[in-house]
Amino acid sequence: MQKAGRAGLAILNRPLSRAFPHSENPMNHLGSLTIYFCWIVLISGIWLIFFFRTSVSGAFDSLEYLSREQWYLGGIMRSLHRYASDAAIVLLLLHVVKEFSFDRYRSKRWFSWVTGLPLVWMLFPLGITGYWLVWDELAQYVAITSAELLDRIPIFTDSMAGNFLSDAALSDRFFTLMAFLHLVGLPIFLVFGIWLHVFRLSRPEINPPRRLMAGALIAMLVLSLVFPAQSQDKADLALAAQTLKFDWFYLHSYPLVQAWSPGWVWMLLIAISSLILLAPWLPPGKAQKPAVVSLDNCNGCKRCADDCPYGAITMAPRSDGNSYLHEAVVDANLCVSCGICVGACPTATPFRIRSELVPGIDLPARTASELRVAIGKVSSTLRGEGRALVFACRGSREAKRLSAAGEPFVEVECMGQIPPSYFDYVLSRDHADGIFLAGCADLGCRFRLGSDWTRQRIGRTRDPRLRKRIDDSRISMNWQESPGGNVLQRLVRFRAALKRAADEGVQ
Ligand code: HEM
Ligand code: SF4
Ligand code: SF4
Repeated sequence: MQKAGRAGLAILNRPLSRAFPHSENPMNHLGSLTIYFCWIVLISGIWLIFFFRTSVSGAFDSLEYLSREQWYLGGIMRSLHRYASDAAIVLLLLHVVKEFSFDRYRSKRWFSWVTGLPLVWMLFPLGITGYWLVWDELAQYVAITSAELLDRIPIFTDSMAGNFLSDAALSDRFFTLMAFLHLVGLPIFLVFGIWLHVFRLSRPEINPPRRLMAGALIAMLVLSLVFPAQSQDKADLALAAQTLKFDWFYLHSYPLVQAWSPGWVWMLLIAISSLILLAPWLPPGKAQKPAVVSLDNCNGCKRCADDCPYGAITMAPRSDGNSYLHEAVVDANLCVSCGICVGACPTATPFRIRSELVPGIDLPARTASELRVAIGKVSSTLRGEGRALVFACRGSREAKRLSAAGEPFVEVECMGQIPPSYFDYVLSRDHADGIFLAGCADLGCRFRLGSDWTRQRIGRTRDPRLRKRIDDSRISMNWQESPGGNVLQRLVRFRAALKRAADEGVQ
């Protein structure tokens, strides 16, 4: 299933990666875009509240007024509200497929996955109660079918469906309850739920890049102007609606209530939810050994704690009597063994020859010392002009492609694991003419922030920085395939560029 998910996402990503730069590709911002669309829903919803009448008789007319009389503002707000809600569902679905397909939910990473599920159980009722409030024919269908579903829950003593048998039986109070849930109750829980969902992550991306936000808003506005959201005919409980324009984003399971029965639909929903809830342990992911701190080498600079994407490092008062004030402490329950902290540690330097290469923090699965040995081994196989030393992330598609093509490379957990001093070492000690970083292309870092930190360290905007003596054009960073071709094609081009540069240097 993960393979299928990755293939599906790659198909979707192909045109998007051509149209957008890597940093603004929507596929790399699915979670934050979902939040952004929720903001559009919230803000447009606030406008609607001013005009909406929470009564069975007034609801339909108040929305009709907005769509027809105040189409230039209220009508647009209404359309934005609807289309942004639909977009949030599409992005949410893609977000879940992506996290699942790239195995970002097992072992120590279970928390965001498990706390994601309640968000789904809030988002769908939010949309469904929204359709209810329009009080048109679709709302009537939604209300009756929802009531049938709710009637199956043993806590409701009276039949809810009975509320909808006639206009007389339908109380404004019940309608007001739905309005309360839609306008206040569920949104508050959703905001709290999103906070819980990301609170264990360090620097979660809450807002997508600005240009992406602007583009998404413009797209929604154009859609709203071209296809304004409209009500269907007013609800009439004496008549059954003949044809309904259906919203499959929110109501996809409703036809099943009639086709099967409410009981079966509940069973299906509970089964799918249970499967999602248990997914991180079906089977449990293999946890690598967490990062370890060597107090003899840690100077308490805090860089590892700043760069750890999972908030697994805290700085504690020194416990070994050393004159430095602080020491790094790793929480083994949070550490996902990405190695990004090693890339941040100023003591992880391969130039050390007198003492053993033990940095302040290290990854047992691939130590800084082993990394230096691997560099030596791979670089000894490079011949001729345009020698490029390749680094690739373990288990990535790029690593597999390189292996299949017989290209030697140095394997790392994440590009963020390589301290910039290693690039300096490779180039200044003539282990290679250039460095080719084959990062996880297409859909971003297997962990989080690894590609961002690497770019910034090489670009000398984040500590530890690449030393100035190194010509950074000799380091090729590759995190996106299209339009530059796959990793092998890019590597061929990089080698040719290195060769050209060498030839020009000779002349
Ligand atoms: C309203 C719905 C949701 C929103 C707004 C949302 C938003 C986010 C955001 C902003 C992040 C952080 C991205 C980053 O900075 O790297 C994230 C991560 C994540 N989300 Fe969601 N999410 C939602 C629903 C879900 C659901 C339903 C699931 C799965 C059942 C899920 C699974 C995950 C996972 C596994 C991560 C990444 C954790 C990691 O990297 O270890 N999310 N989400
Ligand atoms: S290995 Fe990754 S998750 Fe673990 S402490 Fe280092 S940066 Fe944090
Ligand atoms: S980056 Fe290295 S030296 Fe600095 S606090 Fe972390 S382990 Fe210690």
